[in-house]
Amino acid sequence: MTYVAPSLLAADFSALGAELKKVREAEILHIDIMDGNFVPNLTMGPQVVKALRGKTDQEFDLHLMLRHPLQYVPIFREAGADWITFHIECDDDPRTVLASIEASGAKPGIAIKPGTPAEELFPFGEQLHHVTVMTVEPGFGGQKLQEWPLKKVRTLKAHFPNLLIEVDGGINLENAHIVREAGTDVLIAGTAVFTAKDPEQAIQLLRGEPV
Ligand code: DX5
Ligand code: ZN
Repeated sequence: MTYVAPSLLAADFSALGAELKKVREAEILHIDIMDGNFVPNLTMGPQVVKALRGKTDQEFDLHLMLRHPLQYVPIFREAGADWITFHIECDDDPRTVLASIEASGAKPGIAIKPGTPAEELFPFGEQLHHVTVMTVEPGFGGQKLQEWPLKKVRTLKAHFPNLLIEVDGGINLENAHIVREAGTDVLIAGTAVFTAKDPEQAIQLLRGEPV
C-alpha cells in the first residue's frame, strides 16, 4: 500500500480550510514547520496546526525543520500532531527528542537531508515509526527531485523492514513511479497535488492507482 501525504506548503494559505477539502482522499497531511534558522524560510506555528485540527480527522505529520525541535514537541503535540518528524541534523540530542516524542504519544520519525547517509539512522531504527528521506534540500516547495537519495530507501528497508519510509521533495506525476519502485511507503507531494486541476485524481495517480 502506497500512501500520499499532501504537503500543505503548496496550498493557498488564504483559504487553508477550503484547501483541506481538496485532499480528503489522502490519509495523511504533511505540515512543514520552518524556523528561519535550520532552513532559510518561515512557515506555520502551532496556532495554524490547531486551527486545522478541528477541520479533519486525517493524520497530521509535522515535519519540523527546526534547529531546536525539543522544546516544541509538546507544543505541536498539543496542537494536534499525530506524527512528529525532526531532522537528525538539528542541534538537539536525537535520543532526547525521540524520548520526548514518545512521551507525548505521537509517532516518532527522523528526516535526513539529501547529503546525510542512511547509516546515521541505524542506531534509532527500532525506535522509529517512520523516516523521511529528503530528495531536495529542505526549505522550499517546488524544487526538482534528486534521484540519488532514493538508494537510501532501499538501504533502510533492508535493515528495518517494518519502518515506514517517506520521501519528500519534488515528487510529481512523472517521477512518482521511480519513488514507488524504490520501496517508498509514503509519497509527500505539495506542488503536484495542490496545483493539480483535480487534486483527488493527482493523489490516486501518485499512488499508482488506475483512474
Ligand atoms: C521542503 C518540504 C516539502 C515540500 C514539498 O522543505 O519539506 O515537504 O513542501 O513540496 P514539493 O512537493 O512542492 O516539492
Ligand atoms: Zn516536508
